[in-house]
Amino acid sequence: MSDQQVDESKRGFLVAATSIVGGVAAGAAAVPFVGSMWPSERAKAAGAPVEADISKLAPGAMQIVEWRGQPVWIVHRTKDMLESIEKNNEVVADPNSEVPKQPQYAKNEFRSIKPDFAVLVGVCSHLGCSPQLKPADSKADMGMAWNGGFYCACHGSKFDFAGRVYKGVPAPVNLTVPPYKFVGETTIIIGDDSKEA
Ligand code: FES
Repeated sequence: MSDQQVDESKRGFLVAATSIVGGVAAGAAAVPFVGSMWPSERAKAAGAPVEADISKLAPGAMQIVEWRGQPVWIVHRTKDMLESIEKNNEVVADPNSEVPKQPQYAKNEFRSIKPDFAVLVGVCSHLGCSPQLKPADSKADMGMAWNGGFYCACHGSKFDFAGRVYKGVPAPVNLTVPPYKFVGETTIIIGDDSKEA
């Protein structure tokens, strides 16, 4: 199967976002999942910033928000997930996020404003499939030492819990961190990082 065929068959997420939810749940059964916070149709159409309430997002869980037709993942990273990122510096291609795939305020060890919360555009930097969350206990089916992260089944690209791409996979760069900001402790605005609340 050519890359183009795979690309076309796997990119359905843009028109069937609910399939992402199912895919994540099936591929990462051990990870609790919180229902998505979809913005209004009007906001989606305008590509406006969207708001996510993360008050019910348990440690280890992932929430998906649609922004500009793309899935944006919010992962409440546990201590183990953060430690797995620290262990991965040798195996990822761009450990210090030198390629500008994140706002300046996320160019840090965990590629985020707060270490506990990852905010990533869930689109593979190879040909645009949507990777799946794979917890650390997926080692057996990953066929390698695996500290947990995201796996793109289209062509086998792997990313850690900071969205950093592994060396030697088709994806060339880290996952994108969108512009975002916290408004209070439990609300994230995606698509707007202005200083005004
Ligand atoms: S789209 Fe090719 S590995 Fe993700």
